[in-house]
Amino acid sequence: MSNLETIRKDLIDAINQRVDEKILERSNADLLIKLINQAESITEAISIAELGTTYKRTGFHFDVRLEKLGNTIKYFKKNDRLSFSDGSKDIPNKLIIGDNYDALLNLLVEYKGKIDVIYIDPPYGKDSMGEFAETNYDNALTRDNLLSMLYPRLVLARQLLSETGVIFCSIDDRNQAYIKCLFDEIFGENGFLFCAARITKKGGKSTQTIAKNNDYLLAYTLSSEIIFSQEEKTVDKYKYEDEFVSTRGKYALSQTLDYNSLQYSKTMDYEIEIDGRKFYPGGSKKAQEQRWAGNHGKTDWVWRWSKSAVDWGIKEKMFVVKNDRIYTKSYLYCRKMNGKNELERIDPTKAYTSLSFIENPYSNDNGKKELDNIFYNGSVLFKNPKPSTLISTLIKMVCRREDAIILDFFAGSGTTGQAVAELNNDDLGKRRFILCQANEITDTTPNGIAYDVTVKRLKRTMTGKCYDGTSDFKWLDKHTPLGGSLDVYEIGEVANFERNDGKTAFDVIDETLYGKAKFTTLQEKIEWVCENFGNTQMTLESDAEWAKRLEENK
Ligand SMILES: C[S@@+](CC[C@H](N)C(=O)[O-])C[C@H]1O[C@@H](n2cnc3c(N)ncnc32)[C@H](O)[C@@H]1O
Repeated sequence: MSNLETIRKDLIDAINQRVDEKILERSNADLLIKLINQAESITEAISIAELGTTYKRTGFHFDVRLEKLGNTIKYFKKNDRLSFSDGSKDIPNKLIIGDNYDALLNLLVEYKGKIDVIYIDPPYGKDSMGEFAETNYDNALTRDNLLSMLYPRLVLARQLLSETGVIFCSIDDRNQAYIKCLFDEIFGENGFLFCAARITKKGGKSTQTIAKNNDYLLAYTLSSEIIFSQEEKTVDKYKYEDEFVSTRGKYALSQTLDYNSLQYSKTMDYEIEIDGRKFYPGGSKKAQEQRWAGNHGKTDWVWRWSKSAVDWGIKEKMFVVKNDRIYTKSYLYCRKMNGKNELERIDPTKAYTSLSFIENPYSNDNGKKELDNIFYNGSVLFKNPKPSTLISTLIKMVCRREDAIILDFFAGSGTTGQAVAELNNDDLGKRRFILCQANEITDTTPNGIAYDVTVKRLKRTMTGKCYDGTSDFKWLDKHTPLGGSLDVYEIGEVANFERNDGKTAFDVIDETLYGKAKFTTLQEKIEWVCENFGNTQMTLESDAEWAKRLEENK
């Protein structure tokens, strides 16, 4: 089945489901289905289906803005100068420079249903915006641009996602509710996995209103059976070691042995002697004498452990004396059994929660630091990159495939690429990333973000070298190159209705860039191009026709 046919079928299924759910009238649905069957391109089919899906189950409605349709076929063109190889036979990673709509349509040729994890961080602020995402918070209408831009791209992303795949989206507090509705529409409310808070920065400016320190991570799947991995305990917390480190692991000192919030009992209010020094709950012998004389509250100072447990603990070196107080050691791999003077093994992992991402390693500060080590003034070059730890953790959380394919179609500075390369470097995995990034020109990136930041970051962190062969960046002081190969593509255009500089789509589209062997006959190639690339050309439309359509839709 061609891409258009598959998408047609999905759209028609969704429309029929709306009839079953009594959201759409049968007669309206039949008309839409007739039109979808006549649609000449994916974009046209999606636009028609939208007519039946504008009024949403959630009551969600937005005014769909029109994108200017192109009249050329879009295809991948390899940029050999920027591509690099580590010499291995592993399939290279990909960076596609250009509009992600064209990139996603092209990716459907090879990757339909094959992507394991998608992470996106769409532009939603006033800066660094895509052509169709000029969101100005003072003007409610412009949110429609963001939603209109995302809608058809997410429909394509859904086609690319594997049955057990997961898509993550970073989004700020203002847009979270709207984007959640959009995802509910496209991936289904049953596919909603979680909405987690993610720390953006610690603290905040002194402000009369609330300091805003988080954004959100939305996660959706097409499967009903996603089994999450466990989170490794924050090892940084376990920073001390003793002679038992090989069996018990490192330890943290987070709890004192005495508390004043437990029910008072004289048997728990005794004297402890460690290395000749005497200790009392709360620190004072005099206060203890008062309590013993009956002057104590219902809850008051006591030890948390019984006398026999403390004797055992002293023998097992379970305590540390710090600032005149006794602390119990919390080991990474074991703890005291409840009610018994014995150690038991514990799992050094814990379940992820929707608060797992509020720790500092996931903050924007960390993302900035990372980029500042790769480029001199990196965080000025590209604002608010996400930290690679955030993305590697998300991947590990939902996907155990060592050959997983990870897609980010709003790649920005290329954080997702670095995160995947880091994971492979850590566990010798063979994951691959596919990034799409528009070559948006900004004040700090005169050649465009893709050329000035994305591709250079990947080259530097993967090979340890800049494109000019130098290695003069700070990141190398603490890291070794991550390895892996990169194929860089640009989006080429060719008209299919007339010869363009003597070239037709059949001449310029290189099938090997889509994972195909060279065709032996031109006939085979023509069939393949017609089947797969008609979709990358939107309906033929002149500027005048487009202006008219825009006018009609005002
Ligand atoms: C918020 S940034 C992503 C930052 C990224 N997560 C990082 O850590 O660096 C969004 C990026 O999407 C890019 N973008 C916007 N519209 C696009 C489009 N239609 N196609 C491809 N990229 C686009 C912008 O240029 C911007 O760099």
